[in-house]
Amino acid sequence: MLRWINGFCFILFMSACSSVSKNPLYETDIAPIVYRSCSPCHRPNQIGHFNLLTYEDVKQNAQKIVYTIKNRLMPPWPADVHYTQFAGQNTLTDNEIALIEKWVVQGCKVGDRKNIPKIPDFPERSFLGKPDLQIPVQPVRLSGNYSDRFLLVKVPFELPQDTFVQSIEFVPGNTKVVHHVNGDMVRFEYDKKLNLYDGELVADMVHDSTIAQAYKRIGILHDDGSAPTLVKSVVNYLPGAIAQKYSAGIGGWKVNRKNAFLLADLHYGPSVEDAWDSSYINIFFAKKKPERPLSEFQLGTLGLTPIVPALVIPPNKISTYKTSVTLLEDISVITINPHMHLLGKSFLAYALSPTGDTIRLIHIPRWDFNWQNFYTYKKPVHIPAGYTIWVEGVFDNTVNNPYNPNHPPKEVRDNNGSMRTTDEMFQFIVLYLPYQEGDEKMSLE
Ligand code: HEC
Repeated sequence: MLRWINGFCFILFMSACSSVSKNPLYETDIAPIVYRSCSPCHRPNQIGHFNLLTYEDVKQNAQKIVYTIKNRLMPPWPADVHYTQFAGQNTLTDNEIALIEKWVVQGCKVGDRKNIPKIPDFPERSFLGKPDLQIPVQPVRLSGNYSDRFLLVKVPFELPQDTFVQSIEFVPGNTKVVHHVNGDMVRFEYDKKLNLYDGELVADMVHDSTIAQAYKRIGILHDDGSAPTLVKSVVNYLPGAIAQKYSAGIGGWKVNRKNAFLLADLHYGPSVEDAWDSSYINIFFAKKKPERPLSEFQLGTLGLTPIVPALVIPPNKISTYKTSVTLLEDISVITINPHMHLLGKSFLAYALSPTGDTIRLIHIPRWDFNWQNFYTYKKPVHIPAGYTIWVEGVFDNTVNNPYNPNHPPKEVRDNNGSMRTTDEMFQFIVLYLPYQEGDEKMSLE
């Protein structure tokens, strides 16, 4: 037995040795990995706070880089890649981690500077590319009083004609304070709204006791008092979540000449110092009418299905909660978003047929509040009618959870969908298309 283990280790050791270059150099070995996996966030005006673009940047941060990649903190990708794979999945292989570590141990050798590949042309202030239109959100001043703020913000925009939009991207101005946004779009009828900019652009949710009052305050209704069309959930942002841009034909919306984004809850997290935020919204037009607009449903907190047991998380315990829905029609799942707050420990979702066949959706073994991606599959995932989608969330309300906001731990619940960071949520959002034959072969990358 011992010999077998020795042999096994020996083989592993050999294979590790043979595939990691003996003398890694920045020019050939390291720069391509950094450009692919790190620079998209670690560049000016992006969320990564410091740059990883040049040899000097990487060398200067070498020790920190080794620490974060070995502990799989960077690049941030909490989903288990052995469970399901996603489009744009940003992870390092074991070999790449070993290679970078070796390069650092050997003194960060640059090689021939002339051969360092050119820094890619990253789109400025966007993850998706050069937008066709950039609309500023009204700047907001936040005082450093440690409390959350929830704002209702109107972002009006007028176009020369009715048109189609493929993608909408929220770009946070101050990534230290912007926590999340759920944004809808209001489509005004041209002759029923004279002044798009009437009312206040920003309403603090503490002033208005009903949503109708708040809508009035910010001028969301037509001039005759009638309600314009509200298109739900067109622009969302969560820490680290990148807007989705699907291949032509999937997703997208019609926009009128007069519209406004309605950032239904622009949530600013608690801040210690006074701060300003000026965020904006990037719009990418579509050439033609969306052939297959996306539909959405939401399970758990504020969603279609109850959480069992109710989300009341007792102190000093690790507790598991579930929610499920049985499908009445075949769907092609395109994008999913698991959501929990600070007590989240792990998240699992899968679909189960009546005979016990499983379709995997996502597993997040180590929940990280800071990285709540919208995950798009490489190809649509076909779930037939009759399958049940099961979602399981584990919450750690003990002192061992370093993110626990309460010392000592106390009972935490979802509080009717209060979005305060220190209340909890357990949600699974599914963006899908009605299934069509051949969907599972279509590439979403
Ligand atoms: C999706 C965006 C994103 C990507 C991709 C990314 N980072 Fe980061 N990185 C961040 C953010 C944001 C922070 C700050 C985290 C925080 O403050 O908690 C950070 C923090 C770090 C830190 C810690 C700095 C410190 O002072 O503690 C290191 C080191 C780091 N990143 C290295 C990397 C490396 C190496 C890669 C590529 C292999 C990478 N990152 C990819 C967004 C990203």
